[in-house]
Amino acid sequence: MTLDGRGGLVDLRSDTVTHPTPEMRMAMHEAELGDDVFGDDPTVNALEERAAALLGKEAALFVASGSMGNLVAQLGHLGRGQETIAGASTHIVSDEQAGHAVVVGTSIKQMAERPDGTWDLDELNDAFRDPRDLHQPITGLVAIENTHAHTMGRPLTLDYTRTVAEIAHAHGVPLHVDGARFFNAAVALGLEPRELAQPADSVTFCLSKGLACPIGSLVVGPRDFIARARRGRKLVGGGMRQVGVLAAPGLVALKDGPAGMIERLAEDHANARRLAEGLAALDGIESAGGLAQPAPGPLDPGRVQTNFVIFRVRRDRAEFMDALHGRGILMVEYAHNTIRAVTHYGVDATDVERVLAACAAALRETSPGEVAAATAAPAS
Ligand SMILES: Cc1ncc(COP(=O)(O)O)c(C=O)c1O
Repeated sequence: MTLDGRGGLVDLRSDTVTHPTPEMRMAMHEAELGDDVFGDDPTVNALEERAAALLGKEAALFVASGSMGNLVAQLGHLGRGQETIAGASTHIVSDEQAGHAVVVGTSIKQMAERPDGTWDLDELNDAFRDPRDLHQPITGLVAIENTHAHTMGRPLTLDYTRTVAEIAHAHGVPLHVDGARFFNAAVALGLEPRELAQPADSVTFCLSKGLACPIGSLVVGPRDFIARARRGRKLVGGGMRQVGVLAAPGLVALKDGPAGMIERLAEDHANARRLAEGLAALDGIESAGGLAQPAPGPLDPGRVQTNFVIFRVRRDRAEFMDALHGRGILMVEYAHNTIRAVTHYGVDATDVERVLAACAAALRETSPGEVAAATAAPAS
């Protein structure tokens, strides 16, 4: 499939590159509008109600991005000088310009992550600060990421989420889920979004990734928390006015069944798996190492559970990427000298075959690699 304005490229850099569907564009055109800072944009209100209902929470807040969602969630949960417990590789820790410190005034206690994205639960218990000790910050939040990007987009299970929530709650601390790709996790696990969200106090999810909206994320949680997050959104300049034009595609995306964009994420997962299977069969492609696939050796397609494929190439990486680019295929350099390909709306099974043929050709024409220096992962 060729996407409008994309000139035949197969763009696997991220699911953020998706364009809105024709129905979304129509919904933007026809959206009923008001001033959302006064709370009277009916389209935004409808989107927030829908998001809250879908995740089984009292209220929701529409924000410009996933980063803003996580930031205002922290503003809603935390006071200055408090501390969040979060995974070392996660977006909140590594890819949000330390907004927790700059804006919220908090620190983060970083947890070592295992190749399935989980933490050792004894280490989690030990990570809570002692509130009686005058020297220490007070732990005010636990944050997990689902799906977990650096483990190849693996979903964290309901059982695990429940256990982390129970531990957090036993310490009197809420659990926030950075669910930029929360619906990918729910679909992969075969769960209703509200089931997976149930143990969490709050969730951020993105409309502008696999759900193909042009912009926007939602934060869901208890009504009083959302009221504080709304104040936080105004603080960071995120109070928007006739923003129903941007909320309207979200209402399309969150529809039930084939009319919406949630169910179809299963196609992206199947395409990612097919891509990994094809890559694994190519001489010169290997395991990503690190959290994505710790065991050295061939790429294991079984690691692919959602829409991320992360691998290494026994070639000069830059040359390989250039050779792919020359064939109209875009991927992105990822952490620890790996390459990431993300499937999404606009990439179909035929595109996957084209990508595999391009990878085979690029491997043939590029030189055996000097391993390039590790680079940081991109933020999306
Ligand atoms: C796990 C995760 N959280 C948060 C974000 C932030 O989303 P945004 O780019 O909309 O700020 C991203 C972006 O890709 C992400 O991957």
